[in-house]
Amino acid sequence: MIESDVLVLGSGIAGLTFALKMAHARPDLKIIALSKTADTESNTAYAQGGVAAVWNPEVDSYEKHIKDTLIAGDGLCNEEVVKIVVHEGPERVREIIEWGARFDKKENQKYDLGREGGHSENRILHYKDITGWELQRTLLAQVEHTPNLEVLEHYFAIDLITQHHLGHTITRVTPGIECYGAYALNKKTGEIETLLARTTVVATGGAGQVYRNTTNPVIATGDGTAMMYRAKGRIENMEFVQFHPTALYNPQGENPSFLISEAVRGFGGILKTPSGEEFMQKYDERGSLAPRDIVARAIDREMKILGAEYMCLDCRHLDKDAFLAHFPNIYEKCLSIGIDPMKDMIPVTPACHYMCGGIRTDEWGRTSIKNLYAAGECTCTGLHGANRLASNSLLEAMVFAHRIFLDLEKKIDSLPPINKNIPDWNAQGTTEPEELVLIVQSMKELKDLMSYYVGIVRSNVRLKRASDRLYLLYRETEELYSHTTLSPQLCELRNLITIAYLITRSASIRRESRGLHYTTDYPNKLPFIDKSIL
Ligand code: FAD
Ligand code: SIN
Repeated sequence: MIESDVLVLGSGIAGLTFALKMAHARPDLKIIALSKTADTESNTAYAQGGVAAVWNPEVDSYEKHIKDTLIAGDGLCNEEVVKIVVHEGPERVREIIEWGARFDKKENQKYDLGREGGHSENRILHYKDITGWELQRTLLAQVEHTPNLEVLEHYFAIDLITQHHLGHTITRVTPGIECYGAYALNKKTGEIETLLARTTVVATGGAGQVYRNTTNPVIATGDGTAMMYRAKGRIENMEFVQFHPTALYNPQGENPSFLISEAVRGFGGILKTPSGEEFMQKYDERGSLAPRDIVARAIDREMKILGAEYMCLDCRHLDKDAFLAHFPNIYEKCLSIGIDPMKDMIPVTPACHYMCGGIRTDEWGRTSIKNLYAAGECTCTGLHGANRLASNSLLEAMVFAHRIFLDLEKKIDSLPPINKNIPDWNAQGTTEPEELVLIVQSMKELKDLMSYYVGIVRSNVRLKRASDRLYLLYRETEELYSHTTLSPQLCELRNLITIAYLITRSASIRRESRGLHYTTDYPNKLPFIDKSIL
């Protein structure tokens, strides 16, 4: 049994920003953050384009950033939350700069602000094309100097602990569900440990691995959202899955797919067919820099019309030195598969990139379960609505991490002590799996069915087929789970089946096309949105 005042599930930008702030403000408290693999591996570490923030008030304004976010969100953003994030964002960026994060500057020492799809101004702070790596590095360096914050690597959280584990019956309408910590698999010992805390924060990131092609690293299996669903907490907007239009098409296949940042289009890259014709103007007057949902659908459509496996991003007209200075990582990666971006068009294809839905939180990061907060990509705060504006995710994670810190700092001393009556994990009756092939094959089936039937374009028939297949996978996996010793692979499969179910079910319920959810059966938007449910 491990005890702490605050347990943070996740050590990406959301988890660590919160944990560091809490640990700095309260050196008397013990904070533990978990990482399911190495602490350097997270979606955060892969972020390329940068952080959107109003930085140059001479040309940019909060109003413009708010408007761009609302337009991208297609009627489903919570306007109050958008205002909070846009107004508080620049201060959070200043703080991470104080912690040591570097962002590129121009010769005049002003920050070099990039542009991405859907933004009406240049407002993306970035560190070359590896902004996320720089942020993760900064946060981990701070952890080194924070003795009351411990990051436990290779600890895989399995379930949130609630009254259910004390023998009570909990349903989705049970009032007063409380969280006492989490059970986690220590991957080094194979033991399941009980981690008790007065407060828990879920910051487990995205779930891109539910699709065959994704820009998300293999850790992105939606564990936090699935745990929250099992704990009977509130989840929302799961139908809004963002596909990034331009992942590198690598005929060898790779997981994750390598991202060609939207900043490349912001820098002048133009989308073309493999035979060199521009096509984006047919779909949107903003051309290659239209919001992501529109560009991804246009690419998908052109690929289907031409029977092509990819479209192309043409950068051959761009200045080589400037391209290399901005995108050294992308340049190197392209070269490594035989593409010289200055001589060849870059083959690109859409890939699952970001979950707009997730654990419902209020404006202080509080969830529907007591003593349980959530931040980062695993949440649905109301910022993104039906589609996320590029580079608003890192910003959201920092703003909400800070807000959870403010809320918890006020309350922590009056929270009840750790509940010590929690039983150990019950592994009775389970045996080592005889063959991993069952898990591996089910995972493949799951990714295929989500990609074929619940991808960029959906329909009633496809969704029905997906849900029938999912039910079979669910039953088989629950059966396996009930008698098999837990492994990370089995837990991830189980979590991804839950995520797939939530996406498919939410998509079936939404009888309209809006933002990232497009269905051929209901191609139009419903005229009225009941904002009271947001
Ligand atoms: P993550 O950074 O993914 O961290 C999740 C943490 O949770 C990890 O430490 C992981 O180990 C841990 N974890 C997960 N499950 C468990 C478990 N069961 N037990 C214990 N620990 C667990 N956004 C932008 O704003 N700008 C960009 O330029 C940008 N570029 C991107 C490029 C790529 C290729 C990708 C994939 C994403 C990009 N995004 C970008 C999105 C953004 O990076 C993520 O949304 C954001 O970093 C998520 O941060 P997070 O802290 O919520 O989660
Ligand atoms: C990118 O660099 O294109 C990704 C930006 C984002 O996902 O916000």
